[in-house]
Amino acid sequence: MHVYGLVGNPVGHSLSPPMHEAAYETLGIDARYVTFEPEPSALADAIAGADALGIDGLNVTIPFKQDVLELVDPDPLADRIGAVNTIAFGDTSGGDGEHVGDTTPKGYNTDAAGVTRAFDRHDVHLDGSNAVVVGAGGAGRAAAFALADAGASVHVANRTAAKAADLATDIPGATGGGLDSLDRIRDATVLVNATSVGMEAPDETPVPAEYLHGDLAVLDAVYTPIETRLLREAADAGAVTIDGAWMLLLQGVEAFELWTGRDAPVEAMNAALRDRLTA
Ligand code: ATR
Repeated sequence: MHVYGLVGNPVGHSLSPPMHEAAYETLGIDARYVTFEPEPSALADAIAGADALGIDGLNVTIPFKQDVLELVDPDPLADRIGAVNTIAFGDTSGGDGEHVGDTTPKGYNTDAAGVTRAFDRHDVHLDGSNAVVVGAGGAGRAAAFALADAGASVHVANRTAAKAADLATDIPGATGGGLDSLDRIRDATVLVNATSVGMEAPDETPVPAEYLHGDLAVLDAVYTPIETRLLREAADAGAVTIDGAWMLLLQGVEAFELWTGRDAPVEAMNAALRDRLTA
């Protein structure tokens, strides 16, 4: 049996177990996906222990995405983003995902692919687009690098302007500013909310509605509620709207594919996720 899991604190309400287990069931893979909540001081022991026990792969979430970077061999994208959300143990290059256990765990950031795959899935063209990312935390960094790598010209707007400016200096051609630079959305075709504004707060939005327009595709990383005020107002303005469950789904799809070397059963994973989100 293969074992995958999620390391974070807290992880009690994670939707990753049902999403991944739906994939195993659909493809007839003998595997389980379990959650682990180590104390922050035990992170290194937890990762080494998982490796020693033959665990095949781990997702990593808050508060460990940055700290885990030094415990794994990060791929270039994870290294540039400065965060790892997916670890593959052993040698998975054989394609069957069998754990070998004689190599340094590999670290990836599939949040970035979650962003680009969400736009692809909605037929939004990123190459040559003007993109605005709101937020410069972990999610904002992943989104900004993903969009820039896909050929977008990226502006980051963040409450703390200095963090946006720092992020922009890491990405050739990108610019950064405070929330007063959100008027850049008027000339953009792509918008990502990578802040927590709107989470469990249906009346809150990070973006004034006056900046939204019909040539925009808007991805909100927030998925509670599934229809945020930002997405409601974007739809009213005639924009393409992409809810946060797409990003959650497609980062998981990317992780599944890295671990197993197989195409993920995206529809089954999506159904499992949306069942739980509307339950
Ligand atoms: P994550 O890993 O999910 O990105 P994070 O690193 O804590 O989480 O980042 C949270 C982001 O939401 C930051 O960009 C934060 O802005 P600051 O850098 O200024 O803190 C943004 N954010 C959180 N609450 C906000 C609010 N009320 N208004 C605007 N931005 C907010």
